[in-house]
Amino acid sequence: MSNTRVIVTGGAGYIGSHTLIELLIAGYEVCVVDNFVNSSPESLKRVARLSSQHFRVERADIRDACAVTAIFRAFQPDAVIHFAGLKAVGEGETLPLEYYDVNVGGTLNLLRAMTGMRPPAIIFSSSATVYGDPDYLPIDEQHPTRPASVYGRTKLIAEDVLRDWARATPGARAVMLRYFNPVGAHDSGDIGEDPQGPPNNLMPFIAQVAVGLRDRLAIFGGDYDTRDGTGLRDYIHVVDLARAHVAALNYASTCAPGSDVFNIGTGYGATVREILQAYERACCKTLPYHIVPRRPGDVAASVADPTRAITALNWRAELGINDMCQSSWKWQSRNPRGFQFGVDVTLEAE
Ligand code: NAD
Ligand code: WQD
Repeated sequence: MSNTRVIVTGGAGYIGSHTLIELLIAGYEVCVVDNFVNSSPESLKRVARLSSQHFRVERADIRDACAVTAIFRAFQPDAVIHFAGLKAVGEGETLPLEYYDVNVGGTLNLLRAMTGMRPPAIIFSSSATVYGDPDYLPIDEQHPTRPASVYGRTKLIAEDVLRDWARATPGARAVMLRYFNPVGAHDSGDIGEDPQGPPNNLMPFIAQVAVGLRDRLAIFGGDYDTRDGTGLRDYIHVVDLARAHVAALNYASTCAPGSDVFNIGTGYGATVREILQAYERACCKTLPYHIVPRRPGDVAASVADPTRAITALNWRAELGINDMCQSSWKWQSRNPRGFQFGVDVTLEAE
């Protein structure tokens, strides 16, 4: 794939940085566009070191039409991977306009900037959250979509925009990847998830308990209709997810014009207790926890049917929950405060 040029929005972030490594190893020429609102340039320095490759970095907001257009004109990409966005479900409820502006408006801006591409191709970060409370498991792509949050609605609206754009634009390809629960880190331990403030998600919270930054895990609900009463999710290793993007780029270079949507998950579910136990094995510590009431908006269980991705993208998840927990622990124990971006003054253990 050498000489194929890819713009990666949000490339400094958690999933973007892991995907950059896979792209650079595969020989793609890359230009990152990021405003670093939720990431640090340090992640990109580490990607460059790990991959021994150079790539362009443009500090820009995807809502800035002039800046984005200028970057596209200068770099002349063959494809775009669009990670940039705001992703905190709770924050989206209090800042809905910001979430629509970045996640929907930013996507519109990118599509306008892609006008000169022949043919235009985009891989989009969508989310399993678009399905809402599932009617059946595992969830396939035909499952009804009814997101229960502002964040989820921004993703579904962006998907609709991409579908309409692909239908109206000759030769255009839009590949939408609905990620289930991305966790884990690169096996070097040099890049990983670096949440700002108290983590909203399970794995980074457990990681901070393990490293001593938080006292104990609060398990949100012990009375769900699952095998041990705690919530069940399809956790996917971020390196498997990164590789799904390379597979999606290959697919977009050969598929018929139009749009496609793929679930990106393992097809297997793990409960909160099972993740906690796997993490205890990884870090060789007993991790304190307590059960608290359910978190509003949470579903009991969510598991992907990844058959479409396995068949059409020729990709499948290879790493299990032990790999996820071991790599997370390697990252967290080597980098207890992440990339040191915006020193976290809210840490409970200080
Ligand atoms: P992240 O916050 O680590 O990365 C997002 C990146 O986008 C950051 O580097 C941030 O600085 C950048 N960004 C945000 N707003 C921007 C703007 N206006 N202009 C330019 N750059 C901007 O998040 P992530 O976990 O890597 O997620 C990547 C994508 O995947 C997001 O679109 C997210 O909604 C989606 N997604 C994430 C998950 C998950 O659990 N992590 C699950 C499903 C979907
Ligand atoms: C997993 C399980 C919790 C934290 C979220 C977003 C979704 C997507 C992925 C972006 C659940 C339990 C969690 C804690 C806990 N992101 N939990 N204590 O909610 O499945 O999905 O991230 O697209 O949109 O909603 O992931 O990691 O928050 O929770 O008990 O401190 O862990 O109740 O059962 P979720 P999560």
